[in-house]
Amino acid sequence: MHSIKSISTFYKGELASIYSSNEAKSITNLVLMHVLNYDKAQLILNEKEELGNDTEKTLIDYLDQLKGGKPVQYVLGSTEFFGLNFKVNASVLIPRLETELLVQWILDDDPKANSSILDIGTGSGIIPISFKHSLPSVSVSAMDISEGALEVAKENARINKVDVEFLLNDILEDKAIDSKYDVIVSNPPYVPIKDKESLHKNVKAFEPHLALFVPNEDALLFYNRISDYAMQALQRPGFLYFEIYEDYANQIAEMLGQKGFQEIEIKKDLADKDRMIRAKLV
Ligand SMILES: C[S@@+](CC[C@H](N)C(=O)[O-])C[C@H]1O[C@@H](n2cnc3c(N)ncnc32)[C@H](O)[C@@H]1O
Repeated sequence: MHSIKSISTFYKGELASIYSSNEAKSITNLVLMHVLNYDKAQLILNEKEELGNDTEKTLIDYLDQLKGGKPVQYVLGSTEFFGLNFKVNASVLIPRLETELLVQWILDDDPKANSSILDIGTGSGIIPISFKHSLPSVSVSAMDISEGALEVAKENARINKVDVEFLLNDILEDKAIDSKYDVIVSNPPYVPIKDKESLHKNVKAFEPHLALFVPNEDALLFYNRISDYAMQALQRPGFLYFEIYEDYANQIAEMLGQKGFQEIEIKKDLADKDRMIRAKLV
């Protein structure tokens, strides 16, 4: 039997072979908090507590998976986004901090209490669920092509006790519908295949390629298609928000302008990279 403190030291040491010491420390804390159901303060207060055999076995199993490069969110099967707990698995992208900024931007724009919002390419459902949780009076729909992703998203809506309409659809094929949304938001696949090698090897190995990549010769595929769709599916005035790949920020803004969108604004993330765009349809 080992104490929390000694397991924690062992874990950090083992993880230091593949992660920086800060990352190793924060992953170790995440795992221990998850397995023991403690917060950070409880971990420190109880550092002398001896762990049971089953707990140790679970921790060692998780460590093996982590050393194999599996992201901690997939190992634990859950993560936090916008202060809420979300289930994640290999069918969905791991939520990124930038996407919280996108949700916050839409909330800061103060949509009308009775507006309706559609998220295209919803993955684990982080955008519509966070949104509905913050603004319960808004009606929220979410679309994805992946049945596996929608299963996770539905489970997340249940866990977070919000009502979201989920639609299994291919946005590249979906027919335009009557104008019914006030806001359309999307964090679509946007990494050109040629940039695959520049991604972290754990992203390439474990995250769903369906969520990440687009053909080199048509990098704006989803932005183009979703903008066309939005021109028919948005009420006027209506707003379209995208998370974007910084390399294409200006091209996306230009494309939106050519299609007739107005008041196009690009916003940066905390690392000062162009990361989001908003356009208005009048
Ligand atoms: C970059 S991920 C974003 C996931 C989630 N919204 C987030 O921000 O973490 C893109 C999502 O688009 C979905 N997707 C890919 N191709 C699609 C298509 N043709 N139609 C609808 N959704 C699609 C993927 O399954 C994936 O869930």
